[in-house]
Amino acid sequence: MAQFSWTDDLHTRNELIDGDHRKLIDLLNVLFEAMDSAQGNQRMSKAMNDLIAYTGEHFAREEAEMERIEYVAALAHKAEHAKLLEQIVELKAMLDAGGRINIPAVSDFLSEWLRNHILAADMKLAGALKHQPSSEPLPQLH
Ligand SMILES: [Fe+2]
Repeated sequence: MAQFSWTDDLHTRNELIDGDHRKLIDLLNVLFEAMDSAQGNQRMSKAMNDLIAYTGEHFAREEAEMERIEYVAALAHKAEHAKLLEQIVELKAMLDAGGRINIPAVSDFLSEWLRNHILAADMKLAGALKHQPSSEPLPQLH
């Protein structure tokens, strides 16, 4: 069974982003289990819905952070998010229409996308966030 395992190289050291990624990985694994199960279609459809909803929330959280720090690479990063969301929504529509999917290809695609996106785009974002003041007001010193 395809499984996405968390590995230490995926740590961005940003708590918000890492927490979201762990949850995304859990949701991916639920989807992979559903893909493998005999009565998969209904479970797969539910797992896809959960994955799409959480992916959207996660991307919105990252994008809000990009806006807060006026992140220079925001456009390219957001474009990657938009493309993936479009692809998983399409995949879900195909499943709902009763289409057959190539399960190993889809699971490899999703796992590779997430791993590569974390290792490149999200690492850079986490690095930029570390060098910016937080949105908390500064304490009054007197
Ligand atoms: Fe991202």
